[in-house]
Amino acid sequence: MKYTVKCWECGKEIENHFLDACPSCNGSLTIDMELSHLQGTSPMDLRSRPIGVWRYAHFMPIRSEPISLQEGGTPLYDCEKLAEEYGLRKLHVKFEGANPTGSFKDRGMTVGVTRAVELGCKVVGCASTGNTSASLAAYAAKAGLKCVVLLPSGKVASGKLAQAMFFGAKVVTVDGNFDDALRVVKELAHSGDLYMLNSVNPFRPEGQKSLAFEILDQLDFKMPDRIVYPVGNAANIWAAYKALKEWQQLGWIDELPMLTGVQAGGSAPLVMSFAHGQDDFIPVKDPETIATAIRIGNPASGKKALRAVYDTGGVMTAVSDREIIDAQFLLGRMEGVGVEPASAASIAGVKKLMDEGKIGRKEKVVCVCTGHVLKDPDTVIANCGKVLKASATAEDVRRVISS
Ligand code: F0G
Repeated sequence: MKYTVKCWECGKEIENHFLDACPSCNGSLTIDMELSHLQGTSPMDLRSRPIGVWRYAHFMPIRSEPISLQEGGTPLYDCEKLAEEYGLRKLHVKFEGANPTGSFKDRGMTVGVTRAVELGCKVVGCASTGNTSASLAAYAAKAGLKCVVLLPSGKVASGKLAQAMFFGAKVVTVDGNFDDALRVVKELAHSGDLYMLNSVNPFRPEGQKSLAFEILDQLDFKMPDRIVYPVGNAANIWAAYKALKEWQQLGWIDELPMLTGVQAGGSAPLVMSFAHGQDDFIPVKDPETIATAIRIGNPASGKKALRAVYDTGGVMTAVSDREIIDAQFLLGRMEGVGVEPASAASIAGVKKLMDEGKIGRKEKVVCVCTGHVLKDPDTVIANCGKVLKASATAEDVRRVISS
């Protein structure tokens, strides 16, 4: 696959493979894929390969055998009951919890870790609110690389922490939030201690493009009106935009769906700038939310995410912790789909935007639910009723469940 790494801001070509920002203007990096060999083909031609990230290998900047755990190929549920509850024509949920480590991060990590191996790196690392660290730890194990993960102290859900430890990463909690951890891991990368696999590494969003490709594939290339993403560090919604633009450039699709981003109320710098029509944003100093995965005040791909939303006619909105938990439980109890709080932000966002009349009842909407409910069992248990207790007799159990 031919490609060029470029600065997204000034267009400068980047030769040094270890940079995470433009040496001239400090802009974020992106990858230009050379796709001209696909002119005259159709996305149907890709269907001979199994569904998953590597069905879309033409769109991935990788030339070697991928380090893969068979990521992607996750279900797209037609949530009829929830759609009826909300009064919406169609509501699909793309359930990314079904990935190998239980979140969408595996899509970017198969590409990112394969890239690390291509470059001959021995140590990989990231800052994370949890899922990136779980995913990186698993792919590093598969690739035989050492792995270091930096987590915000006390704010990582237990399932994610367990995964990173289980897969053998060196797990370091730092005294600060995700934004602090990202600053530190960048420093470690710059001094050559590790190869950084946060989403500022432009190879990561390339893998995450497959999420959008797959949604269209599963809808038989009939475009939904809107795709809704929870937004934290803001790379995933940007990856969707990049994916859709590439298919548009090939003439594989015409219109783009309205890309819609949902942040948690206590961590919503992009929602504030969207409200004022601004291209840039002011970071939030002390981000807070129950949805710890998106507890981020200074999203690294924030400007790119805003572009994705403006360019497709989408919106950005913020939801409260209460709205997130209500949406999480509604999805679970109505549709049998278990997602973590950050993922439920997309569902909560749909409800909010419908109530405000910003999503029309006739729309066909896809919500991306990014991680599995088991990632954060403590929040679930804290928000459920009590477990019933009985002695070990049928009679007593009958008494307890009928009271
Ligand atoms: N949902 C989940 C479950 C996440 O873990 C994340 C990000 C997001 C949504 C937001 O995606 O950052 O691309 O806007 N988690 C990162 C991590 C920050 O470290 O695991 P984004």
